Parts: sequence; C-alpha cells; structure tokens
Amino acid sequence: MSGNQLDKKSQAWSALFSEPMSELVKRYTASVGFDQRLWRADIQGSLAHAGMLAAQGIIHQTDLVDIQRGLDQITQDIEEGRFEWKLELEDVHLNIEARLTQLVGDAGKRLHTGRSRNDQVATDVRLWLRGEIDALALLLVDLQRALVDVAATNTDTVMPGFTHLQVAQPVSFAHHLLAYVEMFSRDAERLADVRKRCNRLPLGAAALAGTSYPLDREAVARALGFEGLCENSLDAVSDRDFAIEFLSFASITMVHVSRMAEELVLWMSQNFGFIDLADRYCTGSSIMPQKRNPDVAELARGKSGRVIGHLMGLITLMKGQPLAYNKDNQEDKEPLFDTVDTLAATLRILAEMIAGIQVKPAAMEAAARRGYATATDLADYLVKKGLPFRDAHEVVAHAVKLGLQRGLDLAELPLAELQSLHPLIADDAPSVLTLRGSLEARHVRGGTAPTQVMAQIARHRARLGG
Ligand code: ARG
Repeated sequence: MSGNQLDKKSQAWSALFSEPMSELVKRYTASVGFDQRLWRADIQGSLAHAGMLAAQGIIHQTDLVDIQRGLDQITQDIEEGRFEWKLELEDVHLNIEARLTQLVGDAGKRLHTGRSRNDQVATDVRLWLRGEIDALALLLVDLQRALVDVAATNTDTVMPGFTHLQVAQPVSFAHHLLAYVEMFSRDAERLADVRKRCNRLPLGAAALAGTSYPLDREAVARALGFEGLCENSLDAVSDRDFAIEFLSFASITMVHVSRMAEELVLWMSQNFGFIDLADRYCTGSSIMPQKRNPDVAELARGKSGRVIGHLMGLITLMKGQPLAYNKDNQEDKEPLFDTVDTLAATLRILAEMIAGIQVKPAAMEAAARRGYATATDLADYLVKKGLPFRDAHEVVAHAVKLGLQRGLDLAELPLAELQSLHPLIADDAPSVLTLRGSLEARHVRGGTAPTQVMAQIARHRARLGG
C-alpha cells in the first residue's frame, strides 16, 4: 500500500476491516493532537532503528539512505510549521511514517520492520523525558543558586524562627533560605535517580514478545545514548513506572515550592513585612487601589495541586493493567507534558523572583524581639550555671511573664528585676539575651550561627558551581 493508500484507507491495519472507523471513535482514540510533541524523539528513534536494520542486513543500505532523506525532509517541514498533521492517522508515529512513505516509497514501508508502535512509543516518551529531565536539572540549579546568593548577604540578618507559626528562636534569614536549598538539592538527587531508570531502551520488544529479526538492540541503545536495555519485552512496552517516578519527583518538588511560596506570601503581608517582592512579580487589584498582590507566589503554591493531581492520575492509570501494552497508556502523555511545563515555568519564575527579593532586616528583628525568641538562651544560661533544665525553664517562664506585664523584651528588662527571679542570674546574663548572642551560640554543625551558615553556603557553592 502506498502512502496515499494509507492516507485514504486512513488506517494501518485496514484489510481485515469491513467498515471504516466511526468519526467519534477516530476522535476519541486519536492522540496526535498532543503526542505530536514527541516528533523529534520519534524521528531520532526511527533513524537509530533504521541504521541498525541496515547494519544488520535486514534492510538495504539504499533503503536507509531513502529513510534518512525522508526523515530529514520531515524534520524541516515540522520545524517550519509546514507538516500537515492528520487526525485520521491517529498519532505522531503513524503521521510521520505515512508521510515518509509518501516521500520515499517502499523504503518508508520497511522502516517498521521488527518494530511495533508499542516499543516505539515507549522509546519516544523515554527519549523525550530524558531531554526534559536535563533541562529541569539546570533550572533546579538556577533556583538553588538564587537562594544561595540571597542567603550569602543575609547571614547576619536575624528573624524569628517559628514552630507552630509561633515565634520560637532567632535564626538568620540566610539559614531559613538554605533550608529550601537542602530541599531542592534532594529534589535534584531524586531527578538524577529517575533519569537512570528512564534511560533504558524498549525498542526490540516489538509488540510484546520480542521479534524474530536479528536486531542489535545494544547498537540502537548506544546510538540513542541509552544506558541500558529494558530486559523483558513485556515489561518494556507496558510499564510507565519511570513516568510515575518522574511525577513523584515533580510532586515533591512542587510541595517544596508551595512551602516556600506560602512563606513569601506571609512575609510580604503587612502583618509580617519581612520582605518585598519586585513590582514586576506582583499584580494590583481592580477595586482596592492600595493592593499589591503576590500572585506569582500564590499561583506557584496553587500549581502544586495540579502536579500532584497528575501523579494521582498516572499512578491510577497504571493500577491493575494486565500485561502487556494497553491503550490506557496513551493517557500517560498529557499529565507528563503538563507537569514538565508547569514545573519548568514555576522553577524559572521563582529563581528570578527570589533574585529580586527585597529584605527588610529591621522588621525581621523587631518580630524576633516581640516574641521572646531568646527565652531558651536564658534557660541555657542558667543550666550552664548548674541549674537543672526543668527548673531553669520555670524561672524563664516567670521572666517572660514579667516582660509581658511590662511590655518589654527579656533583653530590655532591668537586670535587677531579672536577678530578683533567681540568684544565678549574674551581670553577664544580658549578653546571652541579645539576638546576635543567640545566633552565635548555635554553632553546632547545621545550626544558625553565622560561621556555620557560611560553611553551608560554601558547600552549596562548591556543589552548584558557577
Ligand atoms: N498512540 C499510542 C500511545 O500513545 C501508540 C501506541 C499504540 N499501540 C497500539 N497497539 N495501538 O500509546
């Protein structure tokens, strides 16, 4: 059947069928509307497959040359927006193959030797995703760098650290931001791990059982940069766990994003006033002239729900599917595509927004003072003088009560009054009650003392390069 015939018959398997597919079914089963996005991977896969077929003597060298010429032409046509995608040809694979046959005749029809759309699509998705993984890895580096850069100028900026969203102990703003760098660095590790399992070659599995042609799967894997082969043909065409893993990585990353975005929203509210976001990342209100809303941060927080939804969608799609390929798997693409787009856009915009953040140290410090953030330091002081911790805790509770009655922070209470609470409180007590003293005291590895935080920054910079 020539390319035109394939076109007219509109199906790759028509001989057996006594009537054409219904219009509704055509539209219901077609994926070309979205899977055309895989075209470059599809052509790469076909070139590697054809090269191997020729090397193995399964097709002639002249066929290979024709196939290469045709696929080159198709590449140009698609790049220049001239390629005509046809719904009747169902998906990206059949569209490209039909056009190839139109362009080069029989050689085009030989391309599918020893191959099925089942191993073809699995290969295409893995190839495509691998490229996206590499792009996302760079975006994760950019975001971490932006956070580290802001941290580097804020190792001495004191803010209240919270538990239960109640003021707990002073931390530096740098330390707080670096908590997110740790999260994103683990996300990057997870992504690198997903890549390994994504980067295996399904081609050669054919429809499900392998093929009787003497294919050289290793050669195809080498040509496409795959690290290994899918070792069981049934598994190769049917499982999408690499995509589920990717969506898990993306969901965890978006959860981290949502936590950071939530804090940006809180910090920018008048009640905190810890930071300001540049105008270009904010929007106004159509009715309240005074409003500047952190829409980008809110949307980033919101989009986490969408990505988690895609993970739920795909993992549910896989659940209970019998071996091997089922058409259900065509539904893997949209959640995957949308997740990649959403995550990439979110990481990109957050990195930019963080780089332009305006820090307000005075407001942060005032908030730390208001909340008795150094109460633990006074207790630790008494413990170091020999008081059991539980007793020290009690003494400090009284000090805080006194401060609340007077409207004063611990550091502001007259020393004599503090001393009246316990004889172990000596002249050196006020020095531990300063925010700076509190920060510096926490010089355990991973703690908020400026020297420790600078060590964190140095470690991240060495890791992130640039
Ligand atoms: N469009 C299909 C998909 O995305 C390609 C594989 C079709 N295979 C088949 N046997 N119908 O999964």
